[in-house]
Order: sequence, then structure tokens, then C-alpha cells
Amino acid sequence: PCTGVVIVAAGSGTRLGAGVPKAFVELGGETLLAHALRGLTGLPGEVAVAIAVPAADAPRRQLAESLITTELAMLGERLVHASCVDGGKTRSESVAAALTTLPDHCDVVLVHDAARALTPATLVAAVAGAVRATGHGIVPALPVVDTLKQVDASGRVLDTADREVLRAVQTPQGFPAAQLRTAYAAAGAEATDDAGTFAAAGGIVEVIAGDDRAFKVTTPADLARAERAVQLSKG
Ligand code: C5P
Repeated sequence: PCTGVVIVAAGSGTRLGAGVPKAFVELGGETLLAHALRGLTGLPGEVAVAIAVPAADAPRRQLAESLITTELAMLGERLVHASCVDGGKTRSESVAAALTTLPDHCDVVLVHDAARALTPATLVAAVAGAVRATGHGIVPALPVVDTLKQVDASGRVLDTADREVLRAVQTPQGFPAAQLRTAYAAAGAEATDDAGTFAAAGGIVEVIAGDDRAFKVTTPADLARAERAVQLSKG
């Protein structure tokens, strides 16, 4: 098997307010991107990686290239392809750009947010395994803990959602490679995640159990949470 992995690392990180693109913000002395790459080392067989980096930013592209060398060294010859591509204005444009550079022989493609830096390697491998076992799209997901309300433009509550049937989804999201390529080629309107694009093209998507550690670093509070987790794991 060959697992292609798209890592999207081209976001600006405005909500984090760190003044650098989010994937290049440091966590325990290493970038979020470095942490995210390390999560790929549990994948079996061949691995191909394409990273969407901030467009026209040569220093960050160089840093991403050197992180491929250092963080994925333990894959050795199993790393059959690695590239950095300019990301787009939206996340889905970044995914589409990276997807085109992955080798054709990948049977499964995972799409992963660099911002979910502490995602355990076991979850990454579980998503790829579930795609191969089912032939479906697979998304890691957690139960929704808050009660969710539907509101109108003025803030008036219209309805309460049944949270028993809702899930909060994470990444990596995994797909049969050929079907994902077709879905992205056909994609028009902006879906907010890859499973949305895949499902819009008629693909079946299933959830597997997500992991608390796969949370997305979005705000300064998230970064503080991630720092605590890294310090704890260092003992
Ligand atoms: O902004 P948000 O937190 O939803 O971004 C999720 C992931 O998508 C991040 O890893 C970010 O770097 C990436 N992204 C991207 N290109 C964009 C926007 C976001 O690669 N234009």
C-alpha cells in the first residue's frame, strides 16, 4: 500500500494572532508542522507527503522541506515522495494544489491540518486502515458535548439540535485516492472539510472514534492547552 498525505500548512493564523503563519508557530520549541509530521511515522508501507505552505514565502518553504528530512527520517526508503506546494486562498484550494503532486499509485489519501499538531500516530494509522478496510471515506469524530442551537440573523433561537446524532470531526480525514481526486476535480462551492467535498461527489463517509489530542490549535487558549500537553508528555 501507499498512503498519500496532504498536510495543509498554508493558513495565516489570524485568530491565533502570533504574527506568523499558524503551522510555523512554536510549541515546546518546535513548529506545529514538525509535530504534525511526526504523527505520520506510524503509517504502514509506502508514504508520500505533500505539504501546502504559504504562497511566495521561500524561507517557510525551505523550513518545511528541512522538516520533511528531519521529522520523517525514520520512514527511510518507505518515504517515496515529498513535496511542498504553494497553498491557496482557502483551505480547499490548498488541498487541491497539494493533491495534484501526490504519486498516482497511492491507494489512500489522508488530508490533515498542521494545526492539529498533537494528533497521535495511532489515530493517523487507524484512519488509513479504516479506509482500506471499508473502501469509504473515514473521518475521526468526537461526541458533541455542548447543546447546539439554530438561530436566525437577529440571534433568535429557532431550534435545538439533537446532539445524539451530531459529531465534531477532526483530521486526518482519509479517502480512496481516485475518488478523492475526482471529487476535488468536480468541486465547486467551498465545502468546509474534505469529507464534505467527497460526499458532494457521491462518496460514502463513515466516522471512527477521534482523539482529544487531535484538537485544532486556533486560538491562544488552544496553544496554551497544547503547550501544557507537550510539557506533561516530556515529564
Ligand atoms: O483556519 P483553519 O484553522 O480552519 O485551518 C485549518 C488548516 O488549514 C491549518 O493547518 C491551515 O494552515 C490550513 N489552511 C491552508 N490554506 C488556507 C487556509 C488554511 O493550508 N488557505
